[in-house]
Amino acid sequence: MDDLDTLRAKYLASVASASDEASLEDVRLAALGKKGEISLKMRDLGQMEPAQRQVAGAMLNVLKDEIDAALRAKKTALGDAALNERLRAEWLDVTLPSRGRRVGTIHPVSQVMDELTAIFADMGFAVAEGPQVESDWYNFDALNIPPEHPARQEHDTFFMNRAPGDDRPPHVLRTHTSPVQIRAMTEQGAPIRVIAPGRVYRMDMDQTHTPMFHQVEGLAIDRDISMANLKWTLEEFCRAFFEVQSVELRFRASHFPFTEPSAEVDIRCSWEGGQLKIGQGDKWMEILGSGMVHPKVLAAAGVDPTQWQGFAFGMGIDRIAMLKYGIPDLRAFFESDLRWLRHYGFAALDIPDLARGLSS
Ligand code: DAH
Repeated sequence: MDDLDTLRAKYLASVASASDEASLEDVRLAALGKKGEISLKMRDLGQMEPAQRQVAGAMLNVLKDEIDAALRAKKTALGDAALNERLRAEWLDVTLPSRGRRVGTIHPVSQVMDELTAIFADMGFAVAEGPQVESDWYNFDALNIPPEHPARQEHDTFFMNRAPGDDRPPHVLRTHTSPVQIRAMTEQGAPIRVIAPGRVYRMDMDQTHTPMFHQVEGLAIDRDISMANLKWTLEEFCRAFFEVQSVELRFRASHFPFTEPSAEVDIRCSWEGGQLKIGQGDKWMEILGSGMVHPKVLAAAGVDPTQWQGFAFGMGIDRIAMLKYGIPDLRAFFESDLRWLRHYGFAALDIPDLARGLSS
């Protein structure tokens, strides 16, 4: 039975050197498959004498079992090795910091509100709020805009419907954030230092106007607050907000019913090659209205104008967002186009703070 020993040696060697499950299967087929070498020898047993067959059959069975066992053992070993290799290759260091992933996008208006809140908070201003559906009185009367005043028409006001027969004065969608001055002073009295960012509404729609837009109101009342404090505050704000070394502001005499004197404020800028630069240059851009709070406004809010005085200002948030981040079209702000948001938006959880840099 020399050839059985040869077969044994040959197949045990093949099993040992099989490097993966596919080549191991080839070995199995060559030995034990239907047309395998050992299977064919089994078939030959039929032509043998019974005595011879008994001996040869037993030996072949032993060989077959031996090779079968070797095949199984190797298969298990190859499987273990494959698993180990996979575990090695897919190993994951769970202690590594996570990779930054964008979870939604912060709208430029929200970003700018966070930025200006951080800047004014640093100067001691708290955030005040008021309703967007506002009474006639807070939106106009208390701000020294009586019913027949032409400023009422200029505001293109949205009026809320009243039920038929209900002839109380109508509520309006607030046309500016100035009514929050009245609410804040009525609640808190003087001294007071607040800003009030929020939505405002006017019936106006073109390239530079949308029926809803955003303003931030500022109010500082104390014993001796003056226009000089207003100028310093606004310069300080603009430097921090536009993230430039210096800015130049220009105060132009103006008129608002709720301030006396009143000023509109322009910031120096330049347009070079279609690029807007803030802070220096040969052009001026209007950014806000301001003034010393009118004594009648203080009185309407229960603050004694013989004891207290101060400044107020109102600034368009969308406008300064466009200026700072080079966004060309106001209307796109409110179209909820995801492509626009991904382009102009800011990473969530990256909340502006003065120490780290506002927009970094
Ligand atoms: N409320 C004004 C507007 O919407 C802006 C404004 C001007 C606010 C002067 C003020 C101010 O507080 O002092 O046009």
